[in-house]
Amino acid sequence: MDLMDKIESLAKRRGFVYPGSEIYGGLANSWDYGPLGVELKRNIANEWWRFFVTSRADIVGIEPAVIMNPKVWEASGHLAEFIDPLIECKKCHGRFREDEIKIPRSARDARPSNKIEDFDKDGECPNCGAHEFAKSRQFNLLFKTYLGPLEDSSAQVYLRGELAQAMFVDFKNIINTTRVRVPFGIAAVGRVFRNEITPGNFIFRTREFDLMEFEYFVREAEWEKYFEYWLSEMHRWTQHLGIDKKKLHDTDVPKDGLAHYSTRTVDIEYDFPFGRKELYGLAYRTDFDLKNHMKKSGEDLHYTDPRTKEKFTPHVVEPTFGLDRSVLVALLEAYTEEKVSDETRVVMKFPYWVTPVKVGVFPLLSNNEDLIKEAHGIFKNISGHFVAQYDDSGAIGRRYRRHDEIGTPICITIDHDTLKDKTVTLRERDSMKQIRVKSEKLLEVLSKIFSGEEFLLLGKEVK
Ligand code: GAP
Repeated sequence: MDLMDKIESLAKRRGFVYPGSEIYGGLANSWDYGPLGVELKRNIANEWWRFFVTSRADIVGIEPAVIMNPKVWEASGHLAEFIDPLIECKKCHGRFREDEIKIPRSARDARPSNKIEDFDKDGECPNCGAHEFAKSRQFNLLFKTYLGPLEDSSAQVYLRGELAQAMFVDFKNIINTTRVRVPFGIAAVGRVFRNEITPGNFIFRTREFDLMEFEYFVREAEWEKYFEYWLSEMHRWTQHLGIDKKKLHDTDVPKDGLAHYSTRTVDIEYDFPFGRKELYGLAYRTDFDLKNHMKKSGEDLHYTDPRTKEKFTPHVVEPTFGLDRSVLVALLEAYTEEKVSDETRVVMKFPYWVTPVKVGVFPLLSNNEDLIKEAHGIFKNISGHFVAQYDDSGAIGRRYRRHDEIGTPICITIDHDTLKDKTVTLRERDSMKQIRVKSEKLLEVLSKIFSGEEFLLLGKEVK
């Protein structure tokens, strides 16, 4: 089994991610987050919000509507430009994005243009290996729907394809209702929709996914300074998420690959098991969006410096983070197999703040009323403070393994000594070290462990 298969299978088995609409045979490339997946995903989104929004004075957040006035997408250029060239294999009729067709690098470099005629000779169908394709056509990725009961063109609207447009549309409201001053950012986290031609690789590329992004408004002369600054902040985030630096690569997107709004983009790529692919992106959007919205809406979206009274259109640097890709990378980075006395222990070594369940609480025996009662009491005490799971099924070793597999950092076992001396066993996930702790001290010790203070206690650095 390759790593992606192992992750997908563990995700389903343990309740991180299930195939969508499974009882109806599924729906291609749709996924439901299960009880552990939703905790994991929220931990990442909440921590991103703390990291980039609430812990800073220069970024404010919004939660915009999914469906916006369709004029937004005209002004933003998405109706005309948010397109992928679609090509169809003449033999198997598989449909692909033109840039996904395998072409020998030498041929790609030698090719003067990106026209389909050039692909005909070298391109290979990923499905059947044939080399002949029908002429490519442009395919718009925005999902269309209708507002209200009439399905005519006047009622046609779009599900948002990116969050960014709301930050431009709300720019004036933010300036008028908050105290932010350029340079400042507007952030949002939420679902976006793209009718991708070739979704795939589990939750890597889907047709609905969550984004975390912000538009950072700066003076034109300062965009390069802020571009470098945000690139390094994005890397600080990747380290906080626990990503191996060696697997990350900054790639300047070539001019002909840039989105229509960008004049410079750096993709932070990650070595996924299926190849090096975009994890996050950083784009310099110039004043493209604000200018176009001014033109289309007739509203004045200039910014006036309150001190100097200088009036200008801010330029925009945009860090963007796929939330589902963050979840996928967190799963990939955490997955570990270790030999423990001739057995393979699968352990998800998430950073503690990422992990969905923080504490497992077990009575040593599942048929001893006194132990069960004591364990319930401890669970009740802890679960108001940390996400905890009570577990009394199977042998204690199996319970440890089960919690290793979901990444639970700390397991607490209540045994016969607990009834005598009111101490419990506290076992750490990665080192498997065990110590005895007084029950009355549990909350204090756990707080220290999860705030990173108590690393000496367990002989390792607690992240
Ligand atoms: N506002 C800029 C923007 O949306 P993007 O590069 O199109 O930029 C941002 O997308 C991020 O969203 C990517 O860096 C990636 O993490 C994630 N992403 C893009 N397409 C995706 C898809 N089909 N499924 C899951 N995540 C996707």
